[in-house]
Amino acid sequence: MTELTIASAPASAAPAAAAAPAAPAIRGSAPAGVTHPKTIKSFVRRAGRTTTGQAKAFEDFGPRFVLPYTPAPLDAPAAFGRSAPLVLEIGFGMGEATAHIARVRPQDNFLCCEVHEPGVGALLKRIGEQALTNIRILQHDAVEVIDHMLPEGSLDGVHIFFPDPWHKTKHNKRRLIQPPLVAKLAARLKPGGYLHCATDWQPYAEQMLQVLGAEPLLQNTTTGFAPQPDYRPLTKFENRGLRLGHGVWDVVFVRRN
Ligand SMILES: C[S@@+](CC[C@H](N)C(=O)[O-])C[C@H]1O[C@@H](n2cnc3c(N)ncnc32)[C@H](O)[C@@H]1O
Repeated sequence: MTELTIASAPASAAPAAAAAPAAPAIRGSAPAGVTHPKTIKSFVRRAGRTTTGQAKAFEDFGPRFVLPYTPAPLDAPAAFGRSAPLVLEIGFGMGEATAHIARVRPQDNFLCCEVHEPGVGALLKRIGEQALTNIRILQHDAVEVIDHMLPEGSLDGVHIFFPDPWHKTKHNKRRLIQPPLVAKLAARLKPGGYLHCATDWQPYAEQMLQVLGAEPLLQNTTTGFAPQPDYRPLTKFENRGLRLGHGVWDVVFVRRN
């Protein structure tokens, strides 16, 4: 992967959200002057108890590894304490795959978004147990992070693993993988950067292939579905599904030059 450099936001821009300078126009971003347009959410905030271990992990590791959401461009080298290729993950759940990938790819930085608080605690716990240093967490809607914190051409990769399938047709509009979000992600990838999605729900897998295939900035790395890249582990959830005879589909596209 190529070395990543992102233009730093002025130091004063980060805490002063209201006074932040107008962001440059980005394809697929909110109309000028609209900071928080009403959008369909791809998640519902699930009830779920944070365990004592997760709460302790918040205390011990939250200050270093959880970044505040601010609607201003992210200074990634400052946030990670180094310049390295930047991969965005949307919806890491309990962070099992996230921690594994960060461990086997120490050369890359992983910016990971999740709204489910126990999941954030669980990933912080793994960060502590595995002494990981290359993850930063945003406990916030990834769509707002993309719109307001990630400039065009700032990402080397994007991971979206087992996004909620929203089985009922009337809820399909909540699915993450739809043309507007894919256009935003493609614009934020560097040329050669990749978008990797995986799902165990075949109709969603087909939607992924169709939507990514229709985005002019993206090109499939293969014909149809991709072989599982070696960095993506088989999680407990996936193993259980495979034992029950369910399939899993990976879709990997790259941004054209
Ligand atoms: C089905 S879970 C999969 C979790 C994990 N990737 C895995 O493979 O086990 C989907 C997760 O995405 C999160 N999610 C959905 N939309 C999101 C968004 N817009 N921003 C951040 N997280 C989101 C949900 O909270 C949920 O935890």
